[in-house]
Amino acid sequence: MNERGDLLVYADAGAVALALAEYFVATGELAIAERGKFTVALSGGNTPRAAYELLAAGPLCASLSWNDVFIYFGDERCVPPGDERSNYRMAREAFLDAVPIPSANVARMRGEIDPGLAANEYASILRASLGELPRLDLVMLGLGEDGHTASLFPGIAQEIEGNSLVEAAYAQSQAMWRLTMTPKVINAARRVVFAVEGAAKARALAAVYEGPRDPITYPAQLVQPSSGELRWLVDEAAAELLRLRARLNTSAYKEHNT
Ligand code: 6PG
Repeated sequence: MNERGDLLVYADAGAVALALAEYFVATGELAIAERGKFTVALSGGNTPRAAYELLAAGPLCASLSWNDVFIYFGDERCVPPGDERSNYRMAREAFLDAVPIPSANVARMRGEIDPGLAANEYASILRASLGELPRLDLVMLGLGEDGHTASLFPGIAQEIEGNSLVEAAYAQSQAMWRLTMTPKVINAARRVVFAVEGAAKARALAAVYEGPRDPITYPAQLVQPSSGELRWLVDEAAAELLRLRARLNTSAYKEHNT
């Protein structure tokens, strides 16, 4: 595996959504078979919505024993859970309300309370349910045009104290407080998957995946699982500026785009 992870290029956003949903289910089935439960941190924003909607539909929904699935959030906007900007609301509407998962299995970051308190509360939830160094089966991530991931934004990421599990920070570019899992939690995961779509992400993807190491400028480079797998699911538009793209083995490329 490339030390920056395995990168798979798909024809379009729809193919990425299907690949992401299938990877979610495959990881879940493996985790439940091996350890009796599947612990996963959802990503927010727009990209994962289509994949979440696929999880709520027929065959994929039926593939998982939802009683054994435990949902966490990689980050959250500091807004009430009913706010249209809430990652929890997006996930709830896209699939959590449609699958038979017990509500007790969903650990929401409380964006509606004081950010510092919410961060400490969520860290306690992680420790209580997953241990002192939480090791999630899967962390799902997106990539911002500025190279951020979760709510690890340029200018914030380096302030994050190495041992914390969850941080609250004011994201200038978003003009809002955010809560985020830290690299310590993300990098402890058994699997981490990025989903990246669209030409607007091409520059950030090329810089993060192939550029020099510069995590201050591109916090997504902080994602380096200590022993877990890192996978990138990207569409052609987002991959446009990758040097790798020119070297992609055409058969492999076609394989992922059938
Ligand atoms: C969030 C996400 C954030 C997101 C990227 C990409 O809360 O918005 O955690 O890191 O994954 O900003 O967002 P899009 O998928 O909307 O492009």
